[in-house]
Amino acid sequence: MNQINWQLPRTFLILLIICSLLIEFADFSDTAMGSPTFLYFGYGSNLLAKRIHINNPTAIRRGPAKLRDYRLDFSGFTARWGGAAATIVPHKNKHVWGALWELNTTDMSNLDRQEGVESKVYEPFEVDVETPNGENFTARTYRFIRNPPPAAPQNTLDLGSIFSQIPEDRQPSPEYRRVIVIGAYESDLPDDYIKTLEMIPHNGFNGSSGYNVIPQEEFYRSGPPENV
Ligand SMILES: *[C@@H]1O[C@H](CO)[C@@H](O)[C@H](O)[C@H]1NC(C)=O
Ligand SMILES: *[C@@H]1O[C@H](CO)[C@@H](O)[C@H](O)[C@H]1NC(C)=O
Ligand SMILES: *[C@@H]1O[C@H](CO)[C@@H](O)[C@H](O)[C@H]1NC(C)=O
Repeated sequence: MNQINWQLPRTFLILLIICSLLIEFADFSDTAMGSPTFLYFGYGSNLLAKRIHINNPTAIRRGPAKLRDYRLDFSGFTARWGGAAATIVPHKNKHVWGALWELNTTDMSNLDRQEGVESKVYEPFEVDVETPNGENFTARTYRFIRNPPPAAPQNTLDLGSIFSQIPEDRQPSPEYRRVIVIGAYESDLPDDYIKTLEMIPHNGFNGSSGYNVIPQEEFYRSGPPENV
């Protein structure tokens, strides 16, 4: 038998240990292929943790984020909420604040189902959003298949006055609007943005979705939540 040279196996073993340590501590959450998680930008009822967790239990809040050159708008009718639902529409020099969530890829089909992707209500797409400390992330989000027309002339500067002119058939229910506003507080969105959200007129529908994510006595309130 030949004499074994231990120098080579030892070097190999050390390299193997280093590699396994690197794999152990590597964070793969940002890699594109086969990633166990993905980022999602929510700007409507999914600002509220209790609401997103109904369908997407793995969602973890990553903080507020801003989407440039889009405006928030409302359109369609959801029987569940009793009014129009939120969407985002390209709009130069406007922006939409939202919550950045990290979800397990296992929840992507749940999120798609919640947003009615198969029934062609919303469609998923990717956006680049910016966090308050200037970091950029690419995140999945959803928009209505058809863009609603702007409620105010395109050159209207003030987002609040655009919101306040949303026509009656495109107004959200009191509950849905309040879920968004309370979600905005919970998501730490800027105060002036929350104030503009409160300028959105509601349709006065006096029913409930049955989700029970906020108590009924909150539906018609404004300002910070009192009972959540
Ligand atoms: C979500 O993914 C993380 C990281 O892969 C994992 O540790 C966790 O168990 C998963 N949670 C669920 C509920 O699947
Ligand atoms: C993030 O994106 C914005 C807008 O595109 C850009 O101005 C900014 O430089 C980017 N920040 C970083 C850290 O890349
Ligand atoms: C709304 O419904 C509640 C019961 O769910 C009732 O007590 C209240 O009077 C109603 N308000 C209006 C304005 O219809």
